[in-house]
Amino acid sequence: MKMSGNTVLVTGGSSGIGFEFASQLLKLGNTVIITGRDQARLDTTKKKLPTVHTFQSDAGDPKAIAALYAAVVKQFPKLNVLINNAGFMRKINLHAAGNELEDLNSEIETNLSGPIWMVQQFLSHLKTQESAAIINVSSGLAFVPLPISPIYCAAKAGIHSYTLSLRAQLKGQSIRAGSAVDRNSAGGYIRSGRFDRFKGDASR
Ligand SMILES: NC(=O)c1ccc[n+]([C@@H]2O[C@H](COP(=O)([O-])OP(=O)(O)OC[C@H]3O[C@@H](n4cnc5c(N)ncnc54)[C@H](OP(=O)(O)O)[C@@H]3O)[C@@H](O)[C@H]2O)c1
Repeated sequence: MKMSGNTVLVTGGSSGIGFEFASQLLKLGNTVIITGRDQARLDTTKKKLPTVHTFQSDAGDPKAIAALYAAVVKQFPKLNVLINNAGFMRKINLHAAGNELEDLNSEIETNLSGPIWMVQQFLSHLKTQESAAIINVSSGLAFVPLPISPIYCAAKAGIHSYTLSLRAQLKGQSIRAGSAVDRNSAGGYIRSGRFDRFKGDASR
């Protein structure tokens, strides 16, 4: 697909990999829209990337996704690329007493259910575009699980599998779908904010 002249929506674009996606895509001559939950971080990003467009939205919340869809397609009817990047990783000790359902589910909601909802919401619009793409950010940990983060790895394996099926179902259409994976996961990670979100509890 062409690398410039697209209108791209990147979830979780106020830091880390999403910020870098936004920055590089802007340099290539694309219109870029980013989301994030924290308005202050979005404002800081807007100062660094003045031409980026920002929407405060939780990528794990179906109601927020529906509202985002309505606002984005109204303002950017040429939207043709969706990058489901927002995600986070936590340490979870499966032996720990008092693991709450909310604790165990939150990575599934943001890293797996959210992107699935995003695709469901934006798919019919993307199909109206001459050329479109969906990129779901997975991880090498989908293939080689890191046991201290069992739910994260399961969610990333899920999004990778889902994307393979999505790609097959889109065969013959004007939309391409793929998952972005860090192939060097055995060698380390990209330093980012996500480890700040590890629970501070020493038992985890
Ligand atoms: N870093 C790595 O080595 C690595 C390797 C493989 C895959 N990945 C994947 O790459 C993606 C980005 O990771 P990163 O390391 O760049 O993370 P990061 O630096 O922590 O940035 C995450 C971004 O997503 C946003 N975000 C988090 N939860 C969100 C939600 N529910 N709704 C909307 N925005 C949300 C954050 O902003 P707010 O907190 O303001 O919402 C932030 O802008 C993730 O899917 C991660 O799993 C990362």
